[in-house]
Amino acid sequence: NSESKLQLVHRHVRAFPDFPKKGILFRDICPILKDPAALTAVTDLFEEHVRKNHPQVDLIVGLDARGFLFGPLLAQRLGVGFVLIRKIGKLPGSTVSVAYDLEYGRAEVEVQEDGVAPGQKVLLIDDLLATGGTLYAACELMKKQKADILGCMVVIELKELNGMDKLKPHQVFSLLQY
Ligand code: ADE
Repeated sequence: NSESKLQLVHRHVRAFPDFPKKGILFRDICPILKDPAALTAVTDLFEEHVRKNHPQVDLIVGLDARGFLFGPLLAQRLGVGFVLIRKIGKLPGSTVSVAYDLEYGRAEVEVQEDGVAPGQKVLLIDDLLATGGTLYAACELMKKQKADILGCMVVIELKELNGMDKLKPHQVFSLLQY
């Protein structure tokens, strides 16, 4: 059932204090990838959420880099395509980009111009929601593409950083909350 799948996923997330810098408690999802049953549980839980709440989805859109670990597995289960949102400079051909502020400096994400067609119903996926800066920029990118954003999905939500508020009115579905 859903409860034991969540417990299985939860057991495969590790915390590393003071990584990558002092004061950050880093939530590491690598053990999920190393365990086929845990990775299957993550995919099952996302699939159940999408089939129940967003059966009309056209595309799963994943964020660089750890959205690429979970997104294609989910997209295959659902029988829909997967589109990559990448850090700037990695995608060939015509692209659309959005710049956003980081704690220090700025970053930019982009998608191929023909990645998403106007009106397509998309779900965004990443491993973790922190402040929501990257997912927010990704949503802006999807708006530029005139996509219909159904919502966002993450394995882990860090609640104290209030990323959910930043992403409103878009819904964020998370498997685990810390
Ligand atoms: N990205 C932003 N904050 C993070 C954290 N605490 N653990 C893992 N990835 C993160």
